[in-house]
Amino acid sequence: MSSFSAAWLALREPFDIAARDDGLANSFLAQVAQGAQTGPVVDLGAGTGSNISRLGNLAAKLGHQLSWRHVDNDGDLLAVARQRFNGDSSLSIEQLDITLALDAALQGASAVTCAALLDLVSAAWINQLADRLASGRLPLLALLSYDGRMQWSLADASDAVLAQAFHRDMLSDKGFGPALGPDAAFALKAALGERGAITQLRDSYWRIAASDSAMLTAMNASLSAAAFSAAIGPERSAIAAWSARRAHQIAAGEVSLVVGHQELLATWP
Ligand SMILES: C[S@@+](CC[C@H](N)C(=O)[O-])C[C@H]1O[C@@H](n2cnc3c(N)ncnc32)[C@H](O)[C@@H]1O
Repeated sequence: MSSFSAAWLALREPFDIAARDDGLANSFLAQVAQGAQTGPVVDLGAGTGSNISRLGNLAAKLGHQLSWRHVDNDGDLLAVARQRFNGDSSLSIEQLDITLALDAALQGASAVTCAALLDLVSAAWINQLADRLASGRLPLLALLSYDGRMQWSLADASDAVLAQAFHRDMLSDKGFGPALGPDAAFALKAALGERGAITQLRDSYWRIAASDSAMLTAMNASLSAAAFSAAIGPERSAIAAWSARRAHQIAAGEVSLVVGHQELLATWP
């Protein structure tokens, strides 16, 4: 089990799709289709299948026939994915813990993708992934890595307290060792560059409008819970008050939120 519910992944999926850079994805898919390797594109931490679903649609539009391996360690999310992709013979679904079985997950792969995964991982795991990508010369498309930028349309006096405690929580161990959080996409870009890859990094944004009250409410709850769990001393009361003010603004339709992400494409010369 992970802490990512299918309901949360469904709520965020339209914002993920709107944020994604299909230009980078199309370059990735073209590389894979033209490559010599014929194995599946492996989606690490694939959840309920949002990333494969989107990439599969883009590949079909481009006329690429690709196969996919959907990897996650959460049985509940995999059950939802099995329903989603029921009858799709281009795809296999595998329950693997990628902290323990990265080599098995990547066995025979032609390329690797992930979405909303990198901010959970450690520097050691980034290096392990970079080594594996370099040795197989596997293209990578890593989407939707949170990069530390969060801008509410109305500023609050405790925004900095919230952000500091939230980012402290992000750096805690999410199963991969101490997490890199907002630095992860930049660290993977550097690690792949050192190994000879050609890398491109792009900004992408969740743009959560004042009318998207369910998403704003979920963001308020998850940000304040994560920040609270890492809060020190007086930060706790500041975070509780911050969350109450944000809830009031969200209910009144007064506030919107932009969240920054990074998208990374890596290919091999
Ligand atoms: C934020 S969710 C993103 C899910 C999906 N990629 C998407 O974009 O909707 C992070 C995913 O990483 C998976 N995950 C976390 N730790 C993992 C591990 N050690 N092995 C495999 N999957 C893991 C979670 O189960 C979850 O599905």
